Amino acid sequence: MKNKKITRKITQGMYVLTTDGGGCIVDAVSQVSAGDNPLIAVAVMKNNYTNELMHKNNTFALSILGMDVNPNIIKTFGLNSMRDIDKFENINTNDIENLKVIEDSLGYMICEKVDSIENETHTLFIGKLIEADVYKDDQAMSYSYYQEHKDELIKVKTEKGENAWVCTICGYVYYGDTLPDNFKCPACGVGSELFKKQ
Ligand SMILES: Cc1cc2nc3c(=O)[nH]c(=O)nc-3n(C[C@H](O)[C@H](O)[C@H](O)COP(=O)(O)O)c2cc1C
Repeated sequence: MKNKKITRKITQGMYVLTTDGGGCIVDAVSQVSAGDNPLIAVAVMKNNYTNELMHKNNTFALSILGMDVNPNIIKTFGLNSMRDIDKFENINTNDIENLKVIEDSLGYMICEKVDSIENETHTLFIGKLIEADVYKDDQAMSYSYYQEHKDELIKVKTEKGENAWVCTICGYVYYGDTLPDNFKCPACGVGSELFKKQ
């Protein structure tokens, strides 16, 4: 492949996907049909805890993030796993249709799961839109904006003498002098060659 970066020109947004018991940041979201209750597809990595939850649950919510979103929301939901922390502890949410929706968002879409397709790394979940609302009519953050500005958005603080290695794909930070052998990003799965020393 000559340059996969061209895929970043596909217009994608930044969302918090929530379902009962957890959630994570996703950019792989698409409206795949029109009408009163359009179908929305979201691709969730198989090694994410959210994937397990999405298989169990029948509904999910997508909160749409704006340009002025508090970057802590991206860090909390995109660079941590609900297996290790309670992501909802310090983030304000509203309860809509028994799902947690991010208060600091442009609005939300609530979907009823209607189908799913498995591939090697991801499950593509398809939902029918059953509820939605707009909180703020501001500009949405695009995935390409996040990629271009993730260094400023996800500022890295290191202890004295410690190096920080930042994943150039998702922004995950590994602290330590060197990356362990055969290291793979716990957030997005890429290898150590795609980490940059800060
Ligand atoms: C900018 C950004 C975009 C992401 N896009 C996706 C995505 O589309 N699908 C996905 O499954 N994970 C995506 N992730 C990774 C998950 O948010 C991340 O692996 C999270 O820690 C999983 O948490 P969990 O184990 O609680 O589910 C993205 C992360 C970032 C920072």
